[in-house]
Amino acid sequence: MTTEKRYRAGVIGAGAIAQTCHMPGYDALDNVEFAAFADPAEARHKEITDRYPNTRGYTDYKEMLSEEALDAVSVCSPNVFHAEQAIAAFEAGCHVLCEKPMAVTLEEADAMLAASAKANRNLMIAFTNRLTGGPLACKQLLQDNCIGKPFMIRVRFAHGGPSPGWAKSHWFYNPELSAGGALFDMGIHAIDLCNWLIGPIHSVSALTATLIKDIEVEDNALMQLEFKDKKALGYIEVGWTSRPGFVGFEIYGPEGSIICDYDRGLTLCSGTVTAGQDGEPEWTTLDRNPTKGGWDVQITHWIDVIEGREKLTMDGQAGRAALEAALAAYESSKTGQRITLA
Ligand SMILES: NC(=O)c1ccc[n+]([C@@H]2O[C@H](COP(=O)([O-])OP(=O)(O)OC[C@H]3O[C@@H](n4cnc5c(N)ncnc54)[C@H](O)[C@@H]3O)[C@@H](O)[C@H]2O)c1
Repeated sequence: MTTEKRYRAGVIGAGAIAQTCHMPGYDALDNVEFAAFADPAEARHKEITDRYPNTRGYTDYKEMLSEEALDAVSVCSPNVFHAEQAIAAFEAGCHVLCEKPMAVTLEEADAMLAASAKANRNLMIAFTNRLTGGPLACKQLLQDNCIGKPFMIRVRFAHGGPSPGWAKSHWFYNPELSAGGALFDMGIHAIDLCNWLIGPIHSVSALTATLIKDIEVEDNALMQLEFKDKKALGYIEVGWTSRPGFVGFEIYGPEGSIICDYDRGLTLCSGTVTAGQDGEPEWTTLDRNPTKGGWDVQITHWIDVIEGREKLTMDGQAGRAALEAALAAYESSKTGQRITLA
């Protein structure tokens, strides 16, 4: 018995994240045909068509959109192309899953939101931490009031940098294609996590710096956050120069702490605390593998969103909110001022 393919999906930008998450995700679903991809680097096409022989490659994404009658498109190109390509996909009647950052200016983000509304098609931003076991469990713990109202969040996302190793091309270090460094790449995930778990963010101060790599964008960044009701603070550290160390986040509340160490597990700390002392903490490991999910479930979630089975939370407004905070961080680093968000 053959299953009917209800959706034709296409991917714009056929590099690392497309090949790791989007393409295998579409290909694995019974009701989706991974019909086409577009990437100007024609040399990359063969490795993809070898793996997905029924999929057609294009060097021009506009030609793909006009030829293929697609229902859903993933935008996985370098950051500066996201807005133009997402808007063209909406104009072709597609739902759009766009990689982060959704755009590089707020004007572009607004144009994407307007194009999505006009086409009456979904816009989802690939904030994959929201689909990952540790953050999901943490969201539930907060909803269940397990640590009281959180007053502090710390996020650290860092690794050795996108290339050599991960990326199929060197655009991450070219400001004309990336519009930003580690802050735009990893900070945007951290910002969204803060917005989702504790937000919204009210003001931002930041320092960005190129500390180690010989590149034109920042390889490290620090952000300080103040949340909307001014009863919670946060700080974010991101880097592209990190040897192994802590990666994850910590949230502190009056009745306990949640430590989500992406390598070691998700831990809830409760117990008694006395003035000036830590008292008698009780550590409970809730999940030894908190990075399960994420990329592996994102495309299933996306199709469920299109079909109305799952609620769209990582939407265009979430993408815009994260972009606004990231742009404020760049401005703060440049001017030395704390920036209040609109
Ligand atoms: N959600 C996540 O966790 C995650 C992880 C990694 C990357 N990303 C995002 O995915 C996007 C791509 O990153 P990557 O790591 O796959 O980079 P990559 O260098 O591996 O791939 C980028 C691809 O885009 C192609 N490209 C260049 N110009 C293009 C254009 N005008 N139109 C279409 N394609 C074009 C390149 O040829 C290359 O194949 C970035 O926005 C990045 O921030 C997200």
